Amino acid sequence: MNSINPPEALRPNLKAEWLLSDKITFLNHGSFGALPRCVFDDQTEWRRRIELDPVEIISRRRLALQDQSKNAIGSWLNMRPDDFGFVVNATDGINAVVRSLRFARGDELVTTTHVYNAVRKAMRFVAERSDAVYREIDVQLPVESPGRVVDLVTRGLTDRTRLLVIDHITSPTALVFPVKEITAECTRRGIEVLVDGAHAPGMLPLDVPSIGATYYTGNLHKWASAPKGTGFLWVHPKRQNDIHPLIVSHHYGEGFLPEFGWQGTRDLAAWLSAPRGLKFMAELGWDRIMRHNHQMAAWVQQMLCERWKVEAISPLDGRMLGSMATVRLPGRLGSMTEPEAMSLQQRLHTDFKLEVPIMQWGGLCFVRPCCQVYNRPEDYLRLAEVVTSLAH
Ligand SMILES: Cc1ncc(COP(=O)(O)O)c(C=O)c1O
Repeated sequence: MNSINPPEALRPNLKAEWLLSDKITFLNHGSFGALPRCVFDDQTEWRRRIELDPVEIISRRRLALQDQSKNAIGSWLNMRPDDFGFVVNATDGINAVVRSLRFARGDELVTTTHVYNAVRKAMRFVAERSDAVYREIDVQLPVESPGRVVDLVTRGLTDRTRLLVIDHITSPTALVFPVKEITAECTRRGIEVLVDGAHAPGMLPLDVPSIGATYYTGNLHKWASAPKGTGFLWVHPKRQNDIHPLIVSHHYGEGFLPEFGWQGTRDLAAWLSAPRGLKFMAELGWDRIMRHNHQMAAWVQQMLCERWKVEAISPLDGRMLGSMATVRLPGRLGSMTEPEAMSLQQRLHTDFKLEVPIMQWGGLCFVRPCCQVYNRPEDYLRLAEVVTSLAH
C-alpha cells in the first residue's frame, strides 16, 4: 500500500474565514457543520430584513424568496425545484417519508447495521404501529470493498421488503455506500429506496435524480456551509402525492410543493442564506474542496492506523471514504462503555481543546475525525499524540 500524503492547504489561514474559535482544534465538522463568517452575516441580514417588514416577507414574498434558494440548491444538485421541499434536517426528511407511507402487517422496513440511531428509531416507530417488521442487514467490519456492501445488502432483501433505507455516507463508520448500485437492484425487485444523504451534499459530487432512488434527503448545514436547519427532501414525481411533511398545515391536500412550502410560521433566514454558503464554497472550488478533504481523510486513516497499530475498517487507499474517517481507538480505549466514551469526548475538549467525535459501533469504540478545508495535518497529529498518551 502506497503511503498517502496530506494535501496542500487551499489557502493560508482559511480557518479565519469561519467563526470557529481558534482555541479549539475542531475535528468535528460532521456533527453540525460550522458556519463561515460571510454566511453568518448573510443570515443575520435576512433576519433583520424579515423583522423590518415581517408580513410582507413571510406572507407575500416568501414563495418567491424560497424559490430563489431552491433554484440555487436545485441547480447544484441537479434537482428540479418542483421535486424537492425544504425540511429542517435529514431526520425531518426521513420521518416525512416513513411516516407518510402505509405498511401492512409483515411488510419489512430494512436498513443496515450502520444506520443513524435516530433513523433506526423512526423506522422502528413506523414498523411497530403497523405490525410491520424492522430489520437491519449486518455489514460487518472491516468492509473490504463497495462491491461487498452491494452483495450483502442485496442478499439481505426478501419478497416482504417494502422499503430500504440506505445511508449515502454512514454516520458511525463514515463509509461511502454504493447507493446507485444498491438502488438499481432494489428497483429491479420493486423495492423503494430512501437514501439518507445527511452528509453527502458538499462531501461528494452529487446528482440526486441519477441515483435512481424514490426518496433522497440531505443536509446543507453539514458540508455545504449553509446555516443550521437547512435540509431538503427530494421525492420522485411518481410518489409526490403520497408524501406529506411532518407538519400538516393549511395546504394539506393541495400537493407536494404547497404542503412543503408552508409548515407554519418559521424563521426563513437559514434557507434564504443557504445560497450564500454555496457561493462561498464555489469560489473556493468544489472540486478542490472535495479533493482536499478526501485526501486528508485517506491520509488520516492511514496515519492513525499506523500510529495506533489498529486495523483499518475499510481499504487503506481511502476508496470508501468521503471527508471523514472512522478509526478504532487504541488499547483499552477501543472497548470503552458508552458513558466512558462520552466522558473521553468531553475530556478531549476540556483538557486538550480537541473537538472530535467518539463513536461506538458493534460494541467497539472509534474516533471519527472530519476533514474540512480549514483543518491542517498538524490537527490530526495532535489527536494521534493525545489519544496515544491517554491509551496507556
Ligand atoms: C447518516 C445520518 N443521518 C441522519 C443524521 C441526522 O442529521 P440531522 O441531525 O441534521 O437531522 C445524521 C447526522 O449526523 C447522519 O449522520
